[in-house]
Amino acid sequence: MTILVTGGAGFIGANFVIDWIAAGGEPVLNYDKLTYAGNLENLASLKGNNRHVFEQGDIGNFEHVRKVLAQHQPRAVLNFAAESHVDRSIASPGAFIDTNIVGTYRLLEAVRAYAGELSAADKAAFRFLHVSTDEVYGSLDAKAPAFTEEHPYQPNSPYSASKAASDHLVRAYHHTYGLPVVTTNCSNNYGPYQFPEKLIPLMIHNALVGKPLPVYGDGQNVRDWLYVGDHCTAIRAVLERGALGETYNVGGWNEMKNIDVVHTLCDILDAEKPKDVSYRKQITFVTDRPGHDRRYAIDARKIDKDIGWKPKETFETGIRKTVRWYLDNQSWVKNVTSGAYRDWVTAQYK
Ligand code: NAD
Ligand code: DAU
Repeated sequence: MTILVTGGAGFIGANFVIDWIAAGGEPVLNYDKLTYAGNLENLASLKGNNRHVFEQGDIGNFEHVRKVLAQHQPRAVLNFAAESHVDRSIASPGAFIDTNIVGTYRLLEAVRAYAGELSAADKAAFRFLHVSTDEVYGSLDAKAPAFTEEHPYQPNSPYSASKAASDHLVRAYHHTYGLPVVTTNCSNNYGPYQFPEKLIPLMIHNALVGKPLPVYGDGQNVRDWLYVGDHCTAIRAVLERGALGETYNVGGWNEMKNIDVVHTLCDILDAEKPKDVSYRKQITFVTDRPGHDRRYAIDARKIDKDIGWKPKETFETGIRKTVRWYLDNQSWVKNVTSGAYRDWVTAQYK
Protein backbone atom coordinates (compact mmCIF):
# COMPACT_ATOMS: atom_id res chain seq x y z
CA MET A 1 0.00 0.00 0.00
CA THR A 2 1.02 3.56 -0.70
CA ILE A 3 -0.16 6.98 0.27
CA LEU A 4 -0.09 9.91 -2.13
CA VAL A 5 0.93 13.25 -0.66
CA THR A 6 0.49 16.40 -2.76
CA GLY A 7 2.71 19.39 -1.95
CA GLY A 8 5.19 17.18 -0.11
CA ALA A 9 8.18 19.33 -1.08
CA GLY A 10 6.80 22.35 0.79
CA PHE A 11 7.15 23.23 4.46
CA ILE A 12 4.43 21.13 6.14
CA GLY A 13 4.29 18.45 3.43
CA ALA A 14 8.03 17.74 3.69
CA ASN A 15 7.86 17.57 7.49
CA PHE A 16 4.91 15.20 7.17
CA VAL A 17 6.63 12.89 4.66
CA ILE A 18 9.84 12.75 6.71
CA ASP A 19 7.92 11.99 9.94
CA TRP A 20 5.68 9.44 8.21
CA ILE A 21 8.61 7.46 6.81
CA ALA A 22 10.54 7.69 10.09
CA ALA A 23 7.50 6.24 11.88
CA GLY A 24 7.46 3.24 9.51
CA GLY A 25 4.35 4.24 7.55
CA GLU A 26 3.64 2.91 4.06
CA PRO A 27 5.65 4.13 1.05
CA VAL A 28 4.86 7.70 -0.04
CA LEU A 29 4.33 8.99 -3.52
CA ASN A 30 5.16 12.67 -3.25
CA TYR A 31 3.41 14.70 -5.97
CA ASP A 32 4.54 18.32 -6.17
CA LYS A 33 4.71 21.01 -8.83
CA LEU A 34 7.87 22.51 -7.31
CA THR A 35 6.75 26.13 -7.28
CA TYR A 36 9.03 28.66 -5.58
CA ALA A 37 7.86 27.13 -2.25
CA GLY A 38 8.62 23.53 -3.20
CA ASN A 39 12.18 22.46 -2.54
CA LEU A 40 13.65 18.99 -3.01
CA GLU A 41 16.42 19.96 -0.58
CA ASN A 42 13.75 19.64 2.16
CA LEU A 43 13.68 15.91 1.34
CA ALA A 44 17.44 15.38 1.19
CA SER A 45 17.33 13.09 4.25
CA LEU A 46 15.20 10.66 2.20
CA LYS A 47 17.69 10.37 -0.67
CA GLY A 48 18.14 6.71 -1.61
CA ASN A 49 15.13 5.66 0.49
CA ASN A 50 12.97 3.55 -1.81
CA ARG A 51 9.91 4.18 0.41
CA HIS A 52 9.81 7.73 -0.94
CA VAL A 53 9.07 8.34 -4.61
CA PHE A 54 8.94 11.87 -5.99
CA GLU A 55 6.86 12.81 -9.03
CA GLN A 56 6.79 16.38 -10.30
CA GLY A 57 3.30 17.44 -11.35
CA ASP A 58 0.42 19.87 -10.96
CA ILE A 59 -2.71 18.89 -9.03
CA GLY A 60 -4.60 20.76 -11.76
CA ASN A 61 -3.39 18.30 -14.40
CA PHE A 62 -6.29 15.83 -14.37
CA GLU A 63 -4.75 13.37 -16.86
CA HIS A 64 -1.41 13.23 -15.07
CA VAL A 65 -2.99 12.77 -11.64
CA ARG A 66 -5.21 10.01 -13.08
CA LYS A 67 -2.14 8.25 -14.49
CA VAL A 68 -0.22 8.51 -11.23
CA LEU A 69 -3.19 7.22 -9.21
CA ALA A 70 -3.67 4.27 -11.56
CA GLN A 71 0.03 3.44 -11.41
CA HIS A 72 0.51 3.67 -7.63
CA GLN A 73 -2.95 2.65 -6.32
CA PRO A 74 -2.75 4.67 -3.09
CA ARG A 75 -5.02 3.86 -0.17
CA ALA A 76 -5.17 7.59 0.68
CA VAL A 77 -4.55 10.98 -0.92
CA LEU A 78 -3.43 13.78 1.41
CA ASN A 79 -3.73 17.20 -0.18
CA PHE A 80 -1.17 19.69 1.14
CA ALA A 81 -0.55 21.35 -2.24
CA ALA A 82 -1.54 25.00 -2.28
CA GLU A 83 -0.37 28.53 -2.75
CA SER A 84 -0.03 29.37 0.93
CA HIS A 85 1.30 32.91 1.50
CA VAL A 86 -1.28 35.61 2.29
CA ASP A 87 0.93 38.53 1.16
CA ARG A 88 1.54 36.90 -2.22
CA SER A 89 -2.22 36.36 -2.59
CA ILE A 90 -2.73 40.11 -2.05
CA ALA A 91 -0.01 40.99 -4.58
CA SER A 92 -1.21 38.51 -7.24
CA PRO A 93 -4.25 36.34 -6.53
CA GLY A 94 -4.30 34.45 -9.86
CA ALA A 95 -2.11 31.51 -8.84
CA PHE A 96 -4.28 31.05 -5.72
CA ILE A 97 -7.41 30.71 -7.82
CA ASP A 98 -5.64 28.35 -10.23
CA THR A 99 -4.15 25.98 -7.65
CA ASN A 100 -6.33 26.25 -4.56
CA ILE A 101 -9.69 26.32 -6.34
CA VAL A 102 -9.33 24.96 -9.89
CA GLY A 103 -6.45 22.65 -8.94
CA THR A 104 -8.36 21.18 -5.99
CA TYR A 105 -11.42 20.69 -8.22
CA ARG A 106 -9.36 18.81 -10.85
CA LEU A 107 -7.64 16.76 -8.17
CA LEU A 108 -11.03 15.85 -6.69
CA GLU A 109 -12.28 14.82 -10.14
CA ALA A 110 -9.26 12.57 -10.68
CA VAL A 111 -9.65 11.05 -7.20
CA ARG A 112 -13.38 10.53 -7.71
CA ALA A 113 -12.71 8.64 -10.96
CA TYR A 114 -10.02 6.56 -9.23
CA ALA A 115 -12.18 5.78 -6.18
CA GLY A 116 -15.01 4.75 -8.52
CA GLU A 117 -12.80 1.98 -9.91
CA LEU A 118 -11.81 0.53 -6.52
CA SER A 119 -13.36 -2.62 -5.12
CA ALA A 120 -16.04 -2.05 -2.47
CA ALA A 121 -13.58 -2.97 0.30
CA ASP A 122 -10.79 -0.73 -1.04
CA LYS A 123 -13.22 2.13 -1.54
CA ALA A 124 -14.47 1.76 2.03
CA ALA A 125 -10.87 2.01 3.29
CA PHE A 126 -9.88 4.86 0.95
CA ARG A 127 -9.48 8.43 2.28
CA PHE A 128 -9.04 11.90 0.78
CA LEU A 129 -7.61 14.15 3.49
CA HIS A 130 -7.68 17.87 2.75
CA VAL A 131 -5.26 20.10 4.67
CA SER A 132 -6.77 23.52 5.28
CA THR A 133 -6.47 26.55 7.48
CA ASP A 134 -8.14 28.46 10.31
CA GLU A 135 -8.10 31.58 8.10
CA VAL A 136 -11.30 30.41 6.38
CA TYR A 137 -13.21 31.49 9.52
CA GLY A 138 -12.18 35.15 9.21
CA SER A 139 -11.11 37.42 12.06
CA LEU A 140 -12.08 37.44 15.76
CA ASP A 141 -12.58 40.35 18.16
CA ALA A 142 -10.24 40.40 21.16
CA LYS A 143 -12.69 38.72 23.54
CA ALA A 144 -14.63 36.48 21.12
CA PRO A 145 -14.52 32.73 21.75
CA ALA A 146 -12.08 30.72 19.62
CA PHE A 147 -13.15 29.22 16.27
CA THR A 148 -15.05 25.94 16.56
CA GLU A 149 -15.83 23.76 13.54
CA GLU A 150 -19.30 25.37 13.47
CA HIS A 151 -17.97 28.91 13.03
CA PRO A 152 -19.28 30.44 9.76
CA TYR A 153 -16.80 30.79 6.93
CA GLN A 154 -15.83 34.49 6.51
CA PRO A 155 -12.55 34.49 4.57
CA ASN A 156 -10.98 37.92 4.13
CA SER A 157 -7.94 37.52 1.86
CA PRO A 158 -7.66 36.02 -1.62
CA TYR A 159 -5.67 33.18 0.03
CA SER A 160 -8.28 32.37 2.66
CA ALA A 161 -11.14 32.77 0.15
CA SER A 162 -9.43 30.28 -2.18
CA LYS A 163 -8.88 27.82 0.69
CA ALA A 164 -12.51 28.26 1.77
CA ALA A 165 -13.62 27.45 -1.79
CA SER A 166 -11.47 24.31 -1.76
CA ASP A 167 -12.96 23.23 1.58
CA HIS A 168 -16.47 23.67 0.16
CA LEU A 169 -15.60 21.59 -2.91
CA VAL A 170 -14.21 18.81 -0.71
CA ARG A 171 -17.38 18.88 1.38
CA ALA A 172 -19.57 18.82 -1.74
CA TYR A 173 -17.72 15.82 -3.21
CA HIS A 174 -18.51 13.92 -0.04
CA HIS A 175 -22.13 15.02 0.12
CA THR A 176 -22.88 14.56 -3.60
CA TYR A 177 -20.63 11.70 -4.71
CA GLY A 178 -19.89 9.97 -1.41
CA LEU A 179 -16.14 10.59 -1.73
CA PRO A 180 -14.61 9.53 1.63
CA VAL A 181 -13.12 12.83 2.76
CA VAL A 182 -11.85 14.42 5.99
CA THR A 183 -10.64 18.02 6.36
CA THR A 184 -8.32 19.67 8.88
CA ASN A 185 -8.30 23.42 9.63
CA CYS A 186 -5.06 24.34 11.34
CA SER A 187 -3.56 27.48 12.84
CA ASN A 188 -0.12 29.01 12.11
CA ASN A 189 2.67 26.46 11.88
CA TYR A 190 6.35 27.03 12.56
CA GLY A 191 9.41 24.79 12.51
CA PRO A 192 12.14 23.43 10.20
CA TYR A 193 12.02 24.03 6.42
CA GLN A 194 9.59 26.97 6.55
CA PHE A 195 10.24 29.35 3.68
CA PRO A 196 11.56 32.68 5.04
CA GLU A 197 8.67 34.76 3.68
CA LYS A 198 6.49 33.78 6.70
CA LEU A 199 6.79 35.67 9.99
CA ILE A 200 9.03 33.41 12.11
CA PRO A 201 11.67 32.32 9.57
CA LEU A 202 11.72 35.80 8.00
CA MET A 203 12.45 37.39 11.38
CA ILE A 204 15.18 34.85 12.22
CA HIS A 205 16.80 35.34 8.82
CA ASN A 206 16.62 39.15 8.87
CA ALA A 207 17.92 39.26 12.44
CA LEU A 208 20.98 37.18 11.54
CA VAL A 209 21.84 39.16 8.40
CA GLY A 210 21.38 42.51 10.20
CA LYS A 211 18.26 43.64 8.31
CA PRO A 212 15.18 45.36 9.81
CA LEU A 213 12.54 43.11 11.46
CA PRO A 214 9.39 44.39 9.70
CA VAL A 215 6.35 44.21 12.02
CA TYR A 216 3.11 45.05 10.21
CA GLY A 217 0.86 47.77 11.68
CA ASP A 218 0.90 47.97 15.47
CA GLY A 219 2.13 44.37 15.97
CA GLN A 220 -0.94 43.57 18.08
CA ASN A 221 -2.45 41.01 15.65
CA VAL A 222 -2.91 37.65 17.31
CA ARG A 223 -2.21 34.19 15.87
CA ASP A 224 -2.33 30.71 17.40
CA TRP A 225 1.03 28.96 16.88
CA LEU A 226 1.54 25.21 16.46
CA TYR A 227 4.84 23.37 16.02
CA VAL A 228 4.80 21.66 12.61
CA GLY A 229 5.56 18.21 14.07
CA ASP A 230 2.34 18.46 16.08
CA HIS A 231 0.39 19.35 12.94
CA CYS A 232 1.83 16.22 11.31
CA THR A 233 0.70 13.97 14.18
CA ALA A 234 -2.76 15.56 14.03
CA ILE A 235 -3.04 14.77 10.31
CA ARG A 236 -2.01 11.15 10.93
CA ALA A 237 -4.60 10.86 13.70
CA VAL A 238 -7.36 12.30 11.50
CA LEU A 239 -6.35 9.99 8.64
CA GLU A 240 -6.59 6.98 10.94
CA ARG A 241 -9.56 7.89 13.10
CA GLY A 242 -11.38 10.87 11.54
CA ALA A 243 -15.05 10.40 10.73
CA LEU A 244 -15.98 10.68 7.06
CA GLY A 245 -17.18 14.11 5.96
CA GLU A 246 -16.05 15.71 9.24
CA THR A 247 -13.75 18.68 9.72
CA TYR A 248 -11.27 18.98 12.61
CA ASN A 249 -9.72 22.17 13.96
CA VAL A 250 -6.04 21.78 14.85
CA GLY A 251 -4.31 24.30 17.11
CA GLY A 252 -1.67 24.81 19.76
CA TRP A 253 -3.73 26.52 22.47
CA ASN A 254 -1.13 29.22 22.12
CA GLU A 255 -2.38 32.67 21.12
CA MET A 256 0.30 35.32 20.82
CA LYS A 257 0.59 38.89 19.57
CA ASN A 258 3.01 39.24 16.67
CA ILE A 259 5.19 41.68 18.58
CA ASP A 260 5.54 39.16 21.42
CA VAL A 261 6.59 36.46 18.95
CA VAL A 262 9.24 38.79 17.54
CA HIS A 263 10.46 39.77 21.02
CA THR A 264 10.75 36.07 21.93
CA LEU A 265 12.82 35.38 18.81
CA CYS A 266 15.12 38.33 19.57
CA ASP A 267 15.61 37.17 23.16
CA ILE A 268 16.49 33.60 22.08
CA LEU A 269 18.95 34.94 19.49
CA ASP A 270 20.46 37.30 22.07
CA ALA A 271 21.25 34.22 24.17
CA GLU A 272 22.24 31.85 21.33
CA LYS A 273 24.14 34.24 19.08
CA PRO A 274 24.83 37.43 21.07
CA LYS A 275 25.89 40.72 19.44
CA ASP A 276 26.88 44.10 20.93
CA VAL A 277 23.25 45.22 20.99
CA SER A 278 20.01 43.28 21.28
CA TYR A 279 18.31 42.04 18.11
CA ARG A 280 15.26 43.96 19.39
CA LYS A 281 16.97 47.12 18.08
CA GLN A 282 16.29 45.84 14.54
CA ILE A 283 12.48 45.86 15.02
CA THR A 284 10.78 48.28 12.62
CA PHE A 285 7.05 48.93 12.37
CA VAL A 286 5.99 49.01 8.72
CA THR A 287 2.78 49.64 6.74
CA ASP A 288 0.07 47.15 7.64
CA ARG A 289 -1.05 44.26 5.42
CA PRO A 290 -4.25 45.31 3.55
CA GLY A 291 -7.30 43.67 5.17
CA HIS A 292 -5.06 42.24 7.92
CA ASP A 293 -7.06 39.80 10.10
CA ARG A 294 -6.80 40.93 13.72
CA ARG A 295 -7.04 37.68 15.61
CA TYR A 296 -7.26 33.92 15.03
CA ALA A 297 -7.84 31.44 17.85
CA ILE A 298 -8.56 27.73 17.57
CA ASP A 299 -10.82 25.69 19.77
CA ALA A 300 -9.22 22.25 19.33
CA ARG A 301 -11.49 20.33 21.72
CA LYS A 302 -13.18 18.22 19.03
CA ILE A 303 -9.98 16.59 17.76
CA ASP A 304 -8.95 15.95 21.38
CA LYS A 305 -12.29 14.46 22.44
CA ASP A 306 -13.13 12.46 19.29
CA ILE A 307 -9.66 11.40 18.18
CA GLY A 308 -7.43 11.79 21.20
CA TRP A 309 -4.97 14.28 19.68
CA LYS A 310 -3.20 17.00 21.66
CA PRO A 311 -0.09 19.05 20.80
CA LYS A 312 3.12 17.85 22.48
CA GLU A 313 5.26 20.97 22.12
CA THR A 314 4.69 24.19 24.00
CA PHE A 315 5.63 27.43 22.23
CA GLU A 316 8.67 27.69 24.51
CA THR A 317 10.04 24.26 23.49
CA GLY A 318 9.01 24.47 19.82
CA ILE A 319 10.40 27.94 19.19
CA ARG A 320 13.78 27.08 20.73
CA LYS A 321 14.08 23.99 18.51
CA THR A 322 13.10 26.09 15.52
CA VAL A 323 15.67 28.83 16.13
CA ARG A 324 18.31 26.12 16.69
CA TRP A 325 17.35 24.48 13.38
CA TYR A 326 17.76 27.73 11.46
CA LEU A 327 21.11 28.43 13.15
CA ASP A 328 22.31 24.93 12.27
CA ASN A 329 21.00 25.01 8.69
CA GLN A 330 22.28 28.29 7.32
CA SER A 331 23.25 26.64 4.01
CA TRP A 332 19.57 25.69 3.46
CA VAL A 333 18.59 29.30 4.22
CA LYS A 334 21.29 30.61 1.88
CA ASN A 335 20.04 28.43 -0.98
CA VAL A 336 16.38 29.40 -0.62
CA THR A 337 17.08 33.11 -0.15
CA SER A 338 19.04 33.47 -3.37
CA GLY A 339 17.49 34.29 -6.75
CA ALA A 340 13.75 34.95 -6.97
CA TYR A 341 13.38 35.30 -3.19
CA ARG A 342 15.25 38.60 -3.36
CA ASP A 343 12.82 39.98 -5.94
CA TRP A 344 9.86 39.13 -3.66
CA VAL A 345 11.45 40.76 -0.62
CA THR A 346 12.36 43.90 -2.60
CA ALA A 347 8.81 44.27 -3.93
CA GLN A 348 7.06 43.46 -0.62
CA TYR A 349 9.14 45.61 1.76
CA LYS A 350 10.11 48.48 -0.57
P1 NAD B 1 4.14 25.78 1.20
O1 NAD B 1 3.82 26.98 0.40
O2 NAD B 1 5.38 25.74 2.00
O3 NAD B 1 4.16 24.48 0.27
C1 NAD B 1 3.21 24.25 -0.72
C2 NAD B 1 3.71 23.11 -1.59
O4 NAD B 1 2.71 22.86 -2.60
C3 NAD B 1 5.00 23.44 -2.36
O5 NAD B 1 5.88 22.35 -2.30
C4 NAD B 1 4.53 23.68 -3.78
O6 NAD B 1 5.52 23.36 -4.76
C5 NAD B 1 3.34 22.76 -3.88
N1 NAD B 1 2.36 23.18 -4.89
C6 NAD B 1 1.87 24.44 -5.08
N2 NAD B 1 1.02 24.45 -6.13
C7 NAD B 1 0.94 23.16 -6.56
C8 NAD B 1 0.21 22.52 -7.60
N3 NAD B 1 -0.61 23.22 -8.40
N4 NAD B 1 0.35 21.19 -7.77
C9 NAD B 1 1.20 20.48 -6.97
N5 NAD B 1 1.93 21.03 -5.99
C10 NAD B 1 1.80 22.37 -5.79
O7 NAD B 1 2.87 25.55 2.11
P2 NAD B 1 2.76 24.98 3.61
O8 NAD B 1 2.96 26.10 4.56
O9 NAD B 1 3.59 23.76 3.70
O10 NAD B 1 1.21 24.60 3.65
C11 NAD B 1 0.77 23.30 3.22
C12 NAD B 1 -0.75 23.26 3.32
O11 NAD B 1 -1.14 23.51 4.66
C13 NAD B 1 -1.46 24.31 2.47
O12 NAD B 1 -2.62 23.72 1.93
C14 NAD B 1 -1.82 25.40 3.46
O13 NAD B 1 -2.98 26.10 3.04
C15 NAD B 1 -2.07 24.59 4.71
N6 NAD B 1 -1.82 25.28 5.99
C16 NAD B 1 -0.65 25.94 6.21
C17 NAD B 1 -0.40 26.51 7.45
C18 NAD B 1 0.89 27.23 7.75
O14 NAD B 1 1.00 27.86 8.81
N7 NAD B 1 1.90 27.17 6.90
C19 NAD B 1 -1.38 26.44 8.45
C20 NAD B 1 -2.59 25.78 8.19
C21 NAD B 1 -2.78 25.18 6.95
O1 DAU C 1 -3.44 30.68 10.19
C1 DAU C 1 -2.90 29.72 9.31
C2 DAU C 1 -2.17 30.42 8.19
O2 DAU C 1 -0.98 30.93 8.76
C3 DAU C 1 -1.87 29.53 7.00
O3 DAU C 1 -3.07 29.11 6.41
C4 DAU C 1 -1.01 30.27 5.96
O4 DAU C 1 -0.64 29.39 4.92
C5 DAU C 1 0.22 30.77 6.66
O5 DAU C 1 0.99 31.54 5.75
C6 DAU C 1 -0.13 31.62 7.87
O6 DAU C 1 -0.75 32.87 7.47
P1 DAU C 1 -0.41 34.24 8.20
O7 DAU C 1 -0.75 35.35 7.30
O8 DAU C 1 -0.97 34.29 9.57
O9 DAU C 1 1.18 34.04 8.33
P2 DAU C 1 2.42 35.03 8.12
O10 DAU C 1 3.61 34.30 8.64
O11 DAU C 1 2.48 35.59 6.74
O12 DAU C 1 2.09 36.21 9.13
C7 DAU C 1 1.88 35.97 10.52
C8 DAU C 1 1.54 37.29 11.16
O13 DAU C 1 2.71 38.13 11.13
C9 DAU C 1 0.45 38.07 10.43
O14 DAU C 1 -0.35 38.75 11.40
C10 DAU C 1 1.22 39.06 9.58
C11 DAU C 1 2.46 39.33 10.42
N1 DAU C 1 3.70 39.65 9.65
C12 DAU C 1 4.07 38.81 8.65
C13 DAU C 1 5.20 39.05 7.92
C14 DAU C 1 5.62 38.14 6.78
C15 DAU C 1 4.47 40.75 9.99
O15 DAU C 1 4.14 41.52 10.93
N2 DAU C 1 5.60 41.00 9.25
C16 DAU C 1 5.99 40.21 8.22
O16 DAU C 1 7.03 40.53 7.56
